[in-house]
Amino acid sequence: MNDLLITDVAELATPLGTSPLAGSRQGEISRRQGVEVFCRDGEISFIGTPEERRGRFGDLDGTARLDGAGCTLVPGFVDAHTHLPWAGSRENEFAMRLTGKTYLEIAAAGGGILSTVRATRAADVDHLVRNTLRRLDRMLTLGTTTAEVKSGYGLSLAGELKQLRAIREAGRRHAVDVVPTLLAAHEFPPEYRDDRDAWVEVIAEEIIPACAVGGMARFCDVFCEQGVFDVEQSRRVLLAGAEHGLLPRLHADEFVDSGGATLAAEIGAVSADHLVAVTPEGAAAMAGAGVMAVLLPGVSFFLMKESYAPARRLVSAGVPVVLATDCNPGSSHTESIPFIVQLALFQMKLSIEECLVAVTLNAACCLGIGERAGSIEVGKSADLVLLEGDSLLHLGYHFGVNPVRAVVKEGRVVHQVA
Ligand code: NIG
Ligand code: FE
Repeated sequence: MNDLLITDVAELATPLGTSPLAGSRQGEISRRQGVEVFCRDGEISFIGTPEERRGRFGDLDGTARLDGAGCTLVPGFVDAHTHLPWAGSRENEFAMRLTGKTYLEIAAAGGGILSTVRATRAADVDHLVRNTLRRLDRMLTLGTTTAEVKSGYGLSLAGELKQLRAIREAGRRHAVDVVPTLLAAHEFPPEYRDDRDAWVEVIAEEIIPACAVGGMARFCDVFCEQGVFDVEQSRRVLLAGAEHGLLPRLHADEFVDSGGATLAAEIGAVSADHLVAVTPEGAAAMAGAGVMAVLLPGVSFFLMKESYAPARRLVSAGVPVVLATDCNPGSSHTESIPFIVQLALFQMKLSIEECLVAVTLNAACCLGIGERAGSIEVGKSADLVLLEGDSLLHLGYHFGVNPVRAVVKEGRVVHQVA
C-alpha cells in the first residue's frame, strides 16, 4: 500500500471543486491551519486535525511521513502551456534583444521559431526525449506535477510525429504527468514559404489525421497572429483538428489584435493564450463562450516588453484566468511557475489567491483534468507542493528563489530539499 501522512503544515491553501473559477471567484480559495493530509494509493483520503486523524486511522506507526515543518501546502502546479521538446538554443537572439532588436525583427531575419525548427529537425527522438526529461526534472523541483507539452518545431509530418513521440516517451518515464498538444501550425516551414495555404492544407489533410490517432495529442493549437496564421487559416486548422477529436486552443493576440480571441469564442476553443493585445470585445466574447485565458507573463518579461496581458480586465470580464510558463527557447526560457506567479503579482496585479487558482484548479480544468487534479480534496490525486513560509503570501514575498521544499506526486514524495 502506498500511504503518506503529511503533518505539521502551517497553512493548507487550495481552491475547491472541479470547474474553473472566474470573476470574483478567481481568487476563491480555502485556507486551513492545523490540518494533516493522509494520502492512500495515490489519492487524498483525509484532511483534518491530528485528533480526527487518530480517531479514524490510529497512530499510523510505520506509515511514511512528510514533515510539513511549518510550511504551506498547496496543490501541485499545473503548467498548461509549454514547448519542451526542442533542440538547440537561442542565446544569440537573446544577445541581440539585449542590444535592442525585437523578437519579430529577429524572426523576420530567419531566426526565431525557424532556427529552432532547423535544430529540432536535425535531432533524433532520443535527444528530444533527454531534453524534455531534463526540463521536466527542473519543473518538478519548482512544484509542477502536470504539464501540457506542445510540438511545433518539426513542421513536417515526420517532424511533428517525432516531437509527439518524444513527448509521450518522456511522459512515460517521468513523475510529471504530460498532456500532449499538436502545434503543427506554429509557423510556415521554408518549403511552404511561398504557398502558405498549401501548408495549411497539409496540416489539415495529413498531419492532423496522422497525429490524432492513439492519443498522440489531446489538443490542436495554432499561432494566430499577424504575419503567421490568419483567422481563416487558423479556423481551418482548428476545425480539422476538432473533426479528429483534438480540442482547439490558440496562441492569440500576442503582439497585435489579430482576431484570435474572437475566433476562439466563435469555435468554442478551450483556451486563448498570450492575449497581451486582446480587445475588450475579444475578452467579452471569450467570457460569453466559456473560453479560458492562459496568460504567459514570462514572455513579456523575457522579450523586455512594457505591456503585459490585461489580467485584471480579463478577470473583471468573467474569463477564467490560467498562468503558465510557455517554456520555450525563444520567448520564455523558464520552467518556473513560482517566477510566473511573481510576475503576475508584480506586473499584472493579480492577488496571490487569484494566482494560486490560475496555476492549479483553472490550469487543470484547461487541460481537462479538473476532476482529479488542481485542488487538495478527498478523492483527488495526491499531487501536492510544500512551500517555504507559514502562509501562501510567501510564494510572492520571497521572490527570485525556489520556494519549493517538497513535491508529492500521486502520494509519493518525488522531490525533497534536504
Ligand atoms: O508561445 N508565439 C509563438 N510561439 C512561442 C514562441 C516559440 C519560439 O520563439 O520558439 C510562444 O511564445
Ligand atoms: Fe507558446
